[in-house]
Amino acid sequence: MRSPPSQPDAPVRFWRIAVMTAFTQRGHCLPVKPIVIGKMEERTLNRADLADRTRAELHAPYERQLAPLGHRAMSELSPNLGEYILDIGCGTGQTSVELGEKVGSTGEVLGIDVAPAVLEVAAEKAKSCARVRFVQADAQVYPFEPGLYDAAFSRFGVMFFTDPVAAFINIRRALKAGGRIAFVCWRSLEENELDTVPLQAACPYLPPQLEDPSSAPPFSFSKADKIRDTLSAAGFAGIEISAHNEEVGSGDLDSMLELTLRVGSLGKIVRENPSVRPLVLRPVKEALVARDGPKGPQLNAATWVVKARSLT
Ligand SMILES: C[S@@+](CC[C@H](N)C(=O)[O-])C[C@H]1O[C@@H](n2cnc3c(N)ncnc32)[C@H](O)[C@@H]1O
Repeated sequence: MRSPPSQPDAPVRFWRIAVMTAFTQRGHCLPVKPIVIGKMEERTLNRADLADRTRAELHAPYERQLAPLGHRAMSELSPNLGEYILDIGCGTGQTSVELGEKVGSTGEVLGIDVAPAVLEVAAEKAKSCARVRFVQADAQVYPFEPGLYDAAFSRFGVMFFTDPVAAFINIRRALKAGGRIAFVCWRSLEENELDTVPLQAACPYLPPQLEDPSSAPPFSFSKADKIRDTLSAAGFAGIEISAHNEEVGSGDLDSMLELTLRVGSLGKIVRENPSVRPLVLRPVKEALVARDGPKGPQLNAATWVVKARSLT
């Protein structure tokens, strides 16, 4: 199997070349059609529920992996005592609690997420934080109190909107004039070893017809121009977008293996096609053993750290 391209921005996509080549060499069909399981709405709901429950169950290793990436964006936000802050797509609430510590007893944090299972974990985590609360809703349309918040934050929670401009307009309206936003999101799949290393190892054993994981929703902001255009159209200014690379892991080998097989690009495939798990377990474990060290296996995360200010 080929290695991923050495140039991160190489125009030839890793998935199309490396992964699809492996499929054709092994006589698989080309992955031109999505797997169809029942009606589209049912499929979307069921898959979303499964993803939600999995992230709730694996919240500790998942949050361990994402923590340093979120901290990078949080330092750009620079939250202060007494501030009111939104945590968009707050998931299991680790960042909401951290923001709560920064704003103290005179500030407030509102974590918003569409998914009920993760919010149960978040509520438990924040039960002693009087100034952190959660709402289960779509941040694209939720009627936030206008002009109440000093800042909005997100760790990988802003790439899933059906209408990103409308969503960021809705978030901006919740901010005070000049209010800040900072978030971290993924660059391309091809640049993320967190995805490419397990996918390459598992590739020969994956089902023949798959959706292209590099165009999945988590990568919808993989191009900086799209982020800039979206924020600008939504009324943000002073937009700064920096590439940030960092090797991350979720703990020891077993923890990283379990997370990789249930969350992320390969995790989604295995979750939705459980029969491949016994086939990919060994090759993925070997790939992670090759990256093991004192902190457990570490793989590069390629992200954008974004900050901006509301114009009004
Ligand atoms: C990749 S997870 C990140 C969760 C959390 N921020 C963290 O870092 O642990 C993305 C989260 O965004 C949530 N989400 C997706 N679309 C959303 C929307 N329109 N409104 C609110 N939350 C949303 C998902 O339910 C999920 O919990």
